[in-house]
Amino acid sequence: MKGVILAGGMGKRLEPLTRITNKHLLPVYNRPMIYYPIQTLIEAGVRNILIVTGGNNAGDFLKLLGNGEDFGIKGIQYAYQQGENGIADALRLAEHFAGHDKIIVILGDNVLDSPIKSFVDEFRRQKNGARILIKKVPDPERFGVVKFKGEKIVSIIEKPKVPPSEYAVTGIYMYDKTVFEFIKKLKPSRRGELEITDVNNMYLRKKQLSYNVLEGNWTDCGTFHSLYRANRVMAMKYAKNRTHDK
Ligand code: G1P
Repeated sequence: MKGVILAGGMGKRLEPLTRITNKHLLPVYNRPMIYYPIQTLIEAGVRNILIVTGGNNAGDFLKLLGNGEDFGIKGIQYAYQQGENGIADALRLAEHFAGHDKIIVILGDNVLDSPIKSFVDEFRRQKNGARILIKKVPDPERFGVVKFKGEKIVSIIEKPKVPPSEYAVTGIYMYDKTVFEFIKKLKPSRRGELEITDVNNMYLRKKQLSYNVLEGNWTDCGTFHSLYRANRVMAMKYAKNRTHDK
């Protein structure tokens, strides 16, 4: 399975932090944000990684990550997203990289403190279709939210005013190669973007969307508060053996 990290966008909600750099290069505790999704993929056994980025600071990813030496891998591939047309538009650029393989996609600002290898292994065994990871959160209206009938997902609603459940769709998605056919059929949403939620609903209509519930802490870093939370989560994870700071 191949891995795709989506690290484009202008990070407007984090102005002025993002005025001179890309959101995914900002620090989260003791490393740049982009290190976390790379680590998550590597811990799940994924070695072949594409980073899709854009904007004015795309070159800095190469300076920072090179060929993946810090992660013990032999190479990282890069793609450049022109403009800001949404997550599904960025994923479109991974078609050539993916070839006939299945892919796992992680949004570059999604940070978690527990492994996802068992879920990825389940998807490795899954013949086709897609798999999403969901998580119970206190503020579901900020995310794609799952509507259940019993244990079955019946739809996903992007940023609903009245959330149908407390379960957010995290920015970790696993797809077979049909994803690129679905993306070609997408129309821009009200916010003018090609939405990954629409892609997931297409799989759902074909009864090909499975899910797992994520354990442990998970957060995005799209707002000041969630960025702060990500710092806290990672400080807990990486500094837990320290009793006090000098
Ligand atoms: C995106 C997706 C949303 C998902 C979230 C996870 O939201 O559209 O469905 O729940 O990532 O981080 P955005 O970051 O574009 O607001």
